[in-house]
Amino acid sequence: MNQSSPRTITNSFAGQWHPNLWPPFTQITSSKPPKRVLSGNGAMLIRDDGTSIIDAISSWWVTLHGHGDRYIAEAIYHQALELEQVIFADFTHPQAEQLAHRLSKATGLERLFFSDNGSTAVEVAIKLALQWWHNQGEERQHIIAFDGAYHGDTFGAMSVGERNLFNKPFEKLLFPVSRVPWPSTWWNDPNIDEREKQAIKELEFLLEVPTAAVILEPLVQGAGGMAMVRPEFLEKVEKIVHQSKTLLIADEVMVGFGRTGSLFASQRAKLSPDLMCLSKGLTGGFLPMGITMASQKIFDAFLDSNPEKTFWHGHSFTANPLGCAAANASLDLLEKNPNSYLNFESRHLTHLKQLAIHPKVKKVRLAGTIAAFELDTNEKDGYLNTTGKAMKTYALDHNVFIRPLGNVIYLLPPLCITDKQLKHCYKTLHDGLDEINSSRAML
Ligand SMILES: Cc1ncc(COP(=O)(O)O)c(C=O)c1O
Repeated sequence: MNQSSPRTITNSFAGQWHPNLWPPFTQITSSKPPKRVLSGNGAMLIRDDGTSIIDAISSWWVTLHGHGDRYIAEAIYHQALELEQVIFADFTHPQAEQLAHRLSKATGLERLFFSDNGSTAVEVAIKLALQWWHNQGEERQHIIAFDGAYHGDTFGAMSVGERNLFNKPFEKLLFPVSRVPWPSTWWNDPNIDEREKQAIKELEFLLEVPTAAVILEPLVQGAGGMAMVRPEFLEKVEKIVHQSKTLLIADEVMVGFGRTGSLFASQRAKLSPDLMCLSKGLTGGFLPMGITMASQKIFDAFLDSNPEKTFWHGHSFTANPLGCAAANASLDLLEKNPNSYLNFESRHLTHLKQLAIHPKVKKVRLAGTIAAFELDTNEKDGYLNTTGKAMKTYALDHNVFIRPLGNVIYLLPPLCITDKQLKHCYKTLHDGLDEINSSRAML
């Protein structure tokens, strides 16, 4: 691969807000200007001032194997020389076919529909579920989701997500969805049986109304605060959902591709969803791509001479060959080294146990590569709790990038993170807790 790149680097906006950029999820008036990154290597991001930071949250949970992974980079490079893009109606290509075959085998869902990101993967799943009923002459529009859910920022995805500060301006335009409590749990949680029982009771009650679909994030709600449920709860959910002949949508956008210790979280939770949403780690985090997997049963209801039964949905970049090449390369890496995700939990465990005894730490939880806990503060728990910010600043000063969700602190590193780097992340969190502890001003 030719190493020379035609890149020109200017430093004029280092340490300032760029006058033409509009950053995501950022209130500029109360945030610090972004740090400038020039390159990435494994778990590290290398800044324009020469310092390196450990990317302890895999750049919004996408970077699966590590930054700059050569195997994936070269797969994209070679594919770009062959075919960079082709319209995916009227045409197909080998990378898409290979990926479809592999993901069908891995998920047990026979059909694969491409889109561009996690939100569109969810939009497609919702539309497929609604039209599946419509195509069979039954108008079911009732959808059930869970409290605290986050499924993306497009309108359908916002509708099934929790109503909160992020979607308040659009609230009246979001379609109504019924909600069930999400019985998240943590180490030494004394009341979990009771909370799960209550959630199941409420789900059973809601399912008495004919329902098109139930959507959930298997095992871990991500943006909702790394809120983890027990696999046995999800097994019960699946049983009653399928008993009521309702479709089950597993949103594996965050938890897919080894993040919770099995290739898909649905496998660890023993779920057989009818539809599954994938993105983020799908391409190893190299390129944006979304996929909605569907069972053959779903697909069959769209086969008809009546054009109204067709799924009239598609995106310009459907099955982009570069994205497919990256995804196939990423699957190669997971297949070659399954221990990278199967054994990750044990890598967290010793460190997390030590952290768990800190007086400022509560509600510790762990699933595969995702370790989380909450800061015990005087403020109300939740996204607007400001104490996580002090931890974020402290960690960055010690070259670790975290992005707390309110007072929820979590690590979700790339699989390639070294033991030394992981140890440094935990030491930084521990020291940060001490620092915050001794400084009332920070709380
Ligand atoms: C569970 C889940 N679903 C959907 C999305 C939306 O994905 P995207 O940001 O790629 O649109 C996210 C993003 O964080 C997510 O965590």
